[in-house]
Amino acid sequence: PRPKLSTTTFILVIGGLGYIGSHTVIELLREGYNVIIVDNLSNSYSTVLNNITTLAESHCRARSLPVPLIHFHRLDYRSRAMSLLLESYSDLVMTIDATGTQRMTYVSRITGVIHFAAYKSVLDSITRPLHYYQNNVCGLVSLLQRLDHHGIHNFIFSSSATVYGARASSGKPLREEDVIHHPEQTPSGTILQPAVTGLTCPYARTKYFSEAILADTATSNPSWRIVALRYFNPVGCDPSGLLGETPRAEATNLYPVIAQVLTGARASLDVFGTDWKTRDGTAIRDFIHVLDVARGHISALAWNEDKGGGFRAFNLGSGSGTTVMEAVRSLEQASGREISMARAGRRPGDVGVCIASTDRARRELGWSPRESIAQCAADLWNFVRKTIR
Ligand code: NAD
Ligand code: WQD
Repeated sequence: PRPKLSTTTFILVIGGLGYIGSHTVIELLREGYNVIIVDNLSNSYSTVLNNITTLAESHCRARSLPVPLIHFHRLDYRSRAMSLLLESYSDLVMTIDATGTQRMTYVSRITGVIHFAAYKSVLDSITRPLHYYQNNVCGLVSLLQRLDHHGIHNFIFSSSATVYGARASSGKPLREEDVIHHPEQTPSGTILQPAVTGLTCPYARTKYFSEAILADTATSNPSWRIVALRYFNPVGCDPSGLLGETPRAEATNLYPVIAQVLTGARASLDVFGTDWKTRDGTAIRDFIHVLDVARGHISALAWNEDKGGGFRAFNLGSGSGTTVMEAVRSLEQASGREISMARAGRRPGDVGVCIASTDRARRELGWSPRESIAQCAADLWNFVRKTIR
């Protein structure tokens, strides 16, 4: 007899207990998706899972909705256990093709995959490049093979504004077509578009290579629907104050460092570069609320289902620039505390300005950012103040 297919479907979130992953998981649960989280806790803690569950339960209780399923598997996404996991969410069914031939095929209950798992420190990637290539690139290749084997082709990848390399320094909003992986057909034949220049570190190259691998994979088999989301500078956290950025690794990004100054864990903020050609001399970045980034994944999943096919990249940024000094001031305002600062030289590899063009994501995904920089600061402070004794 033909096995009965389960109607329960899941979104698989790899790296789902990390900073952006955990915020995406809670948004998926709030939207009613069942979620499978895979994480090896190399840069996160299992307490995040408890907080996600608490938030999902209180959201659903307030609306008299059933709580979606949350399955957690602590494992390295590169390990063989990943194949076993995919198998356990598959039903083996018999199909009969036009010629009457019977075939057994897997039908997965996983309808989409969001892949966050990677190492992400710029400095660490310079001293341990193979560690980064192994996790971020080799891991991706074997993951894609395993997904293909199980017929899972709806894939969302965490990319980064770092793929724009030196193009960012022009100061103009960065458009997705500034980085192209496919050979393009021109009147004079097929040409390879010039590769992006000035990728600043091995980490940046892992994201660039990953996108190229994804583009080639999508070209090879029309079943794939692959989106690369290029995040600019995700900041802030869930307004509940239950989820935030709690890495095991040392904080080096601006907002987590400011958070440490606010809690007293660090004496002051070194402002790297006060001589950039900007309105106050400090660097300009496109800070985007992490919940806006999270919602971008839900838009991308829906887009993949309805209109996707092949490989497509989208920027997730606010579309406007904020200086380092303006970011500091917004956190001073939110916290009512003064942030002690020291001027420092430019950090190697930094660019003066990095801003997203959001046109493609708005037009094609129907996504647009909702939260302001003031909201990012208020939400971060709400999370951080609980850790002050
Ligand atoms: P994060 O370190 O907080 O989250 C990554 C999660 O993946 C962690 O929970 C970690 O334990 C897990 N992980 C790592 N390797 C794994 C493995 N081999 N198997 C299973 N789990 C593994 O990082 P994040 O800030 O949430 O970033 C998520 C993704 O977005 C990364 O791919 C990162 O490169 C990319 N990104 C981040 C930023 C940013 O500013 N945070 C910007 C652009 C792109
Ligand atoms: C922002 C600005 C610093 C810390 C990085 C990665 C990028 C992406 C996002 C993953 C810069 C200044 C910072 C400090 C400072 N990650 N700063 N004092 O460099 O724009 O992007 O994170 O993909 O790939 O490169 O973010 O938060 O580190 O820095 O003055 O203690 O804040 O110099 O101008 P960045 P950031």
